Amino acid sequence: MKNQIIIENKIPKFNKTISIPGDKSISIRIILIASQAIGKSRAYNLLESGDVKSTINSMKKLGVDIKKKSNFYEINGLGLNGFDISKKQTLNAGNSGTFARLCCGILARTDKTIKIVGDKSLSRRDFSRIVRPLQLFGMNFKSNNNRLPLILKGSKFLRPIYYEEKKGSSQVKSAIMLASLNTPGTTIIKSVPSRNHTENIFKHCIKVPIKIKKIKGYELIKVDGLKNFSSFNYSVPGDISSAAFFITLTILSKNSKMLIKNVNVNKSRSGILEILKKMNAKIKLINKRNYFGEEVANIYVESSTKLKSINCPKSLNTKTIDEFLLIFLICAKAKGVSKFKGLSELRYKESDRLKIASKFLKMIGVKVNESFDKLKITGQPELNLKKSYVIKNFLKDHRVFMMTSIAALTLGGKFIIKDKDSINSSFPDFLSKLKQLGGIIK
Ligand code: S3P
Repeated sequence: MKNQIIIENKIPKFNKTISIPGDKSISIRIILIASQAIGKSRAYNLLESGDVKSTINSMKKLGVDIKKKSNFYEINGLGLNGFDISKKQTLNAGNSGTFARLCCGILARTDKTIKIVGDKSLSRRDFSRIVRPLQLFGMNFKSNNNRLPLILKGSKFLRPIYYEEKKGSSQVKSAIMLASLNTPGTTIIKSVPSRNHTENIFKHCIKVPIKIKKIKGYELIKVDGLKNFSSFNYSVPGDISSAAFFITLTILSKNSKMLIKNVNVNKSRSGILEILKKMNAKIKLINKRNYFGEEVANIYVESSTKLKSINCPKSLNTKTIDEFLLIFLICAKAKGVSKFKGLSELRYKESDRLKIASKFLKMIGVKVNESFDKLKITGQPELNLKKSYVIKNFLKDHRVFMMTSIAALTLGGKFIIKDKDSINSSFPDFLSKLKQLGGIIK
């Protein structure tokens, strides 16, 4: 069977309640952090996707016992740096930037040589962003011009660092925080705010000494290292980045409604909700609750016919970083000209998402102006496609595949979308969920 899908019908109207698999960022962090706890931790509702499998398989190679039980994963932690690595190991991070970068931090004190490799997309991504701070701790790295394969060795003589993280990258911040667990003294990070799941797990779950202070556009995070902690149980809430595809599907479909249960709407992560409200989308949060510092809610969304354009404040960029492809698609149907700035980071994701978004929108007849870190989209509320389109050559970027599937189900036309297996990275059930809602996908 060909690794592609064909969509040639808009999805019929729907009124459904769905739930979404566990958050990818949190699933990866839970496995890594539980590997450093003393005793058996349980992870419920862990995302079962390629990126999380790469994490589990790699941690097993480092001697961490991880077992799938009836409805949870059991991670048997052997304490700080409690890895059992008999020889040089090669870890395959597959498509996962989060695992590849965070894993370097957790290996800060290992005395073994570890090689990290990844797929074609991950092998074009930058690792200098984590190598620089981790070298300051005392770790050693060799790389292919700051790309994978990366060869690392930890140090028995780690020293705490002060580091300014200016990109708003949670992967960088988290790699440093994970290294701090194995480092004596107080590590200090002055960080542009970004998703704060690692902080939440440190503070509410494993209770390591952490202080967080807000200072003018930054957060000052202080972690005291070398404090052992006990195992814990965690039930991973639904991933807003996956929910976002169904939110967009509903907004762009006619006469439809959806309730998405148990989604992580952590404010450092859910910029899409703020943007969609500004654009006049019909969306609200129900039954908000707090879970280990994460805000969790049910999301109610309806078709939205009166969408308006947005001049997107830069301050929403990091909170929305994985959802921009969908926001751009919604802008294509909104009245007026939408503007985005400061988005160069999108060029360094699984694919160059700024370039791919603008190529895609032009292909379907939408006016777009693209510069290095800006995008301007002239919306067409009546956009209704009639032609045939082939979507290919997107470096198997899972989010490009899923965004174009949503476009195909809501805008008309005939779409052939290649590299179906890309969804395995983050959302293997994506297509079956769309079919359950009535989408016709061949
Ligand atoms: C992630 C952080 C973001 C995001 C990625 C997941 C994380 O990357 O794009 O999909 O889990 O920390 P950056 O931190 O590099 O912006």
